[in-house]
Amino acid sequence: MAPLVLLHKTPGDQLMPIAIQLKQEKSEDNPIFCPTDSEYDWLLAKMFVRSADFQDHQLNSHLLRTHLLSEVFSVSLLRNLPMVHPLYKLLVPHTRYNLQINALAQKLLISDSGIFNTFTSSGGKAKQKILQRAMSYITYKSVCIRDDIKERGLESVPHFYYRDDGFKIWDIIKRFVQGVLAYYYKDDSYVKRDMELQSWVMDIFVHGFLYRPKSGMPESLNTVDELVKFVTMVIFTGLA
Ligand SMILES: [Fe+2]
Repeated sequence: MAPLVLLHKTPGDQLMPIAIQLKQEKSEDNPIFCPTDSEYDWLLAKMFVRSADFQDHQLNSHLLRTHLLSEVFSVSLLRNLPMVHPLYKLLVPHTRYNLQINALAQKLLISDSGIFNTFTSSGGKAKQKILQRAMSYITYKSVCIRDDIKERGLESVPHFYYRDDGFKIWDIIKRFVQGVLAYYYKDDSYVKRDMELQSWVMDIFVHGFLYRPKSGMPESLNTVDELVKFVTMVIFTGLA
């Protein structure tokens, strides 16, 4: 199921589900469930929503957008930047254990006999399909939390701790990154001339984002500000 949920903001600033439809296309066998339905119908409808949210969270938000993206950043860092490079020194602690944990996940979680296939409704073929679709939707904006929240119109949703905490963490990382990089990159020309940096960014675009200009992922970086944002995104992704 890929349910649609209508949420109502109560006077106490809580979000309450007031209608659920289990499929996205209008049809005879796709009724709208409400809290006024029988207790167990409504409970079951909410369980379907929870289940769908779990699949999306684990495969898209968690596996793809943190573990697997971080692997792209780690491998391209090791491939393109020498150990003496300031970007290597800044980023290498954020690659720590990523390859190891992803190898374990491949073996124990997402393999044919893994936990995902054994215990979840999207295990098996659906898992591949969901991951492929999720991959085709990834954009640069969607991995930069401030742009992402704005684009999805979630600025004023109450009690949204991912956004509130995420903004603070993003800003702290950005301040740190800015401080370190300003020391090495005195102006934009330093960024443009750094061929190792440029090949790192290109490698991520080609192998991580499959050469899709629509993703909005940069193919090169031209300014110190662009570099600071990109590096902040890389660290933030690894923390998530
Ligand atoms: Fe994880």
